[in-house]
Amino acid sequence: MGIQTLAVDIGGSGIKVMVLDECGTPLAERDRLPTPQPAKPDAVIGAIAALAQGKTFDRVSVGFPGVVREGVTETAANLTPDWIMFDLATALSRQLDKPTRVINDADMQGLGAVSGQGVELVITLGTGFGSALFVNGKLVPNLELGHHPFRKGETYEEQLGRAALDQDGKAKWNDRLKRAIATLQNLFNYDTLYIGGGNTDRIAFQLPSNTKIVPNISGLLGGIALWKD
Ligand code: BGC
Repeated sequence: MGIQTLAVDIGGSGIKVMVLDECGTPLAERDRLPTPQPAKPDAVIGAIAALAQGKTFDRVSVGFPGVVREGVTETAANLTPDWIMFDLATALSRQLDKPTRVINDADMQGLGAVSGQGVELVITLGTGFGSALFVNGKLVPNLELGHHPFRKGETYEEQLGRAALDQDGKAKWNDRLKRAIATLQNLFNYDTLYIGGGNTDRIAFQLPSNTKIVPNISGLLGGIALWKD
């Protein structure tokens, strides 16, 4: 049996895991637990340990919903402030006794989705608004469009995150998403836009032809790419 990777996606509402083989092919069904509330580091690490129990793996890849540098989480808008400058890679590798790498969740999702050709932008529509940028398959890490001003004095996340969808309804949210796509096309002049995240099934308009919906599972499939260099 080759090297097996436990891919972990820490979300605002759920923590998902899946074991991948050396080619990134899933070896079993995805497993999930609700994100503990409050989502403090100890509680989240405990949930990951519970999900890892009984699974065989040699290393761990984590997608985290904030800025991540060298395994250290620097922001976490939708978790708790305890994550600011928290060394998640070290804490989790100690807990699971396996080498662990951590990157931003949208970056990990993009790694599992992009083609490697041209300029590719990824956005994720979930609890937060995630974003990732690739140039010929090379990641520009930690692009934080979500907290960038979009319109009416609000950020992309304030206009298009889960709270906005729940509060303002599907019609307004769709109208905003259409405008956001037009703005991002003008800004990045990307070749392809990928849209992932749990709220993609709420999209109710015809997307431009250079836009693709990414299946949720790519958030975990991207886990294999963290070990490529
Ligand atoms: C965070 C991003 C993250 C996104 C999706 C945002 O609030 O700042 O880093 O990728 O949510 O989880």
